[in-house]
Amino acid sequence: MSQNIFKNRKVLITAGPTREAIDPVRYISNHSSGKMGYAIADQFLQQGAEVFLVSGPVHLELKHPRLTLVKVTSALEMDLACCNFFEEVDIAIFAAAVADYRPEYISKQKIKKDESSFTIKMIKNVDIAYEFGKIKSSRQLSIGFALETNDELTHATGKLIKKNFDMVVLNSMNDNKATFGFDTNKITIITSDFTQKEFLLKHKNEVAEDIVEAVFELWLKRKAHLQMVSLN
Ligand code: CTP
Repeated sequence: MSQNIFKNRKVLITAGPTREAIDPVRYISNHSSGKMGYAIADQFLQQGAEVFLVSGPVHLELKHPRLTLVKVTSALEMDLACCNFFEEVDIAIFAAAVADYRPEYISKQKIKKDESSFTIKMIKNVDIAYEFGKIKSSRQLSIGFALETNDELTHATGKLIKKNFDMVVLNSMNDNKATFGFDTNKITIITSDFTQKEFLLKHKNEVAEDIVEAVFELWLKRKAHLQMVSLN
């Protein structure tokens, strides 16, 4: 890939898990390490982009003069941070494993084990990618991830349509060494014209390169399309 292909372009990336508080000492979360999102951010920086990385709690570091790193904890915080960048970005990549639900009430005090059973009522969180999909302009690209355990292609294509993604990166949980915590990943890229491209198991840094290259192809196609429309 040639260098600086995304010079002067602004990219929003979400990464990592979110944590949904139950009380001051407990939360609900997931196993996302954030490695994939951070590797993608690193690739875009290497390609000259200005990157806004909105990250849930992870054990990773990334520093660069063109990087704005916003650290958040909950899905609501992640959404608020992302909304600040929605209008100005050219590309948004939703790599975070956002908790779909959060406890309706957060106890102000540590919950004591007084009862023999305990129920938490969960309410739906905002879907950040869906919200961006509703408002994005024709010059903006939206890229999502789909982590699936079954009927992978059907679910990933469903998300592509529902969230108005231009591209979905499918991650099958059935692939060995391609899930949470591993440094490797195996992806299939599905674009909005429903073409699919399957990649081999690779290190997450190489997977990030493949993703950034696929986004660039899409970006060039979109640019050509917009030019054609403006000529007509
Ligand atoms: N996503 C998001 N905000 C959410 C949930 C998901 O931005 N509240 C994004 C993810 O970052 C990912 C895509 O939407 O790019 C798909 O996320 P996923 O969790 O696989 O799908 P869901 O829509 O949550 O569906 P389900 O959990 O039922 O599979």
